[in-house]
Amino acid sequence: MKKIEAIIREEKLNDVKEALKKIGIVGMNISEVRGHGRQGGIVLEGRVGTYQVDMLPRLQFNIVLSDHNVEKTVATICDAAGSGKPGDGLIFVYPVENVIRIRTGERGRAALTYPDDIDARREAGIVAGVLQPEP
Ligand SMILES: Nc1ncnc2c1ncn2[C@@H]1O[C@H](COP(=O)(O)OP(=O)(O)OP(=O)(O)O)[C@@H](O)[C@H]1O
Ligand SMILES: [Mg+2]
Repeated sequence: MKKIEAIIREEKLNDVKEALKKIGIVGMNISEVRGHGRQGGIVLEGRVGTYQVDMLPRLQFNIVLSDHNVEKTVATICDAAGSGKPGDGLIFVYPVENVIRIRTGERGRAALTYPDDIDARREAGIVAGVLQPEP
């Protein structure tokens, strides 16, 4: 299992949310963060001169998912969150040791399955003979 932590522009929230929904990513959480990357923020023109805003607001998507769903999810976020300009954000991928669903005690992948999610759709495709099972 992996955790994807994607830092994106606030105005890309809906595009990213919709794109993830489309590929069947269900479980996620987001938080508001502030930070800067290589440029160290931006310089703004005020009435009394210029000033530096060094911690800019961004949104962070946290998604824990199976290893085999990482690349498709990363590509989807890059596509939906990108404007081509500096400050589009970063995606971090971490290993995850375990996930426990509190209500049922399910662990690992079992705690990460949702009706009609990316895996359920893939498996439905395999059953329908459209896709080949993964090796
Ligand atoms: N090394 C880092 N660790 C944690 N968060 C970071 C790191 N670098 C950037 N961030 C977060 O990502 C946000 C977006 O960074 P940004 O897109 O400016 O990255 P960059 O590396 O400067 O790329 P670009 O050149 O496209 O601007 C920052 O506002 C900050 O919240
Ligand atoms: Mg930057």
